[in-house]
Amino acid sequence: MSEVLIERPRDGVALVRINRPEARNALNGEVRRQLAEAFAGLGTAADVRAIVLTGDENAFAAGADIKEMAGVGAADMLLRQAHRLWQAIAECPKPVIAAVNGYALGGGCELAMHADIIVAGEGAQFGQPEVRVGIMPGAGGTQRLARAVGKHKAMLMLLTGKPVSAREADAMGLVSMVVPDADVLETALKTAETIAGMPPVAVMQIKEVLLAGLDAPLATGLMLERKAFQLLFDTRDQKEGMQAFIEKRRPKYEGR
Ligand code: CAA
Repeated sequence: MSEVLIERPRDGVALVRINRPEARNALNGEVRRQLAEAFAGLGTAADVRAIVLTGDENAFAAGADIKEMAGVGAADMLLRQAHRLWQAIAECPKPVIAAVNGYALGGGCELAMHADIIVAGEGAQFGQPEVRVGIMPGAGGTQRLARAVGKHKAMLMLLTGKPVSAREADAMGLVSMVVPDADVLETALKTAETIAGMPPVAVMQIKEVLLAGLDAPLATGLMLERKAFQLLFDTRDQKEGMQAFIEKRRPKYEGR
């Protein structure tokens, strides 16, 4: 049985499930390799407009596989080039929605932070407990978390290793919304379906510009935004979207 399952539950929507329930979906090398392969494929598939990433009802993912890395040395760790596998997810041009139930710890929290939107169940827990096993985050935990919640909340989580509840994560801006546990996947799929119905070039440009702008000075970010905004006036979907508004009908987007 594959450790990462790919389904197509709705038009334009792909669902990626991490499938290692016996290990709380801990991210071993095989899961990470299969996730990278899944995102590389779905990122370029023309009929995929949005991707939902999930685990199971107990865990989104409980982090990197501790048993697999306990005896490893620094050179081995370097040679694994794990960051290349994470890159396939970080660089996915399609919107990614994390549907989180249960534990999102360590690499699992980092994985959720790779997503563009995070739907959390009321019982979800987010944390970076690496310090408790003698290490620190290695897939963006010190960087993406600080950018999402600010220095002081991030330091508290990183230095104590204590997880936060979904409500706390929501209050600090780490997640997009909190819903009852039973509604997490459906809410994520519906959100993905809504995005899949939007003009895809505009969607991809919004994602690309927002992410690039986060790492750039404001003037550079604003310039990127302006250029992408202008570029969209050369798409058929811009003409269709505005004409449909004027004619008071639903637009039919072609993705070009
Ligand atoms: N790695 C390997 N195995 C794991 C795992 C992990 N991260 N998390 C859970 N498991 C395994 C357990 O060893 C256990 O296996 P066995 O049945 O063979 O003993 C099984 O999953 C079920 O786990 P528990 O019995 O512990 O389940 P629980 O519900 O009582 O607790 C938990 C769940 C709170 C998530 C707990 O398992 C836990 O604390 N896990 C470790 C979390 C952690 O420290 N993550 C950070 C890893 S380091 C990292 O992620 C580095 C990075 O930045 C990339």
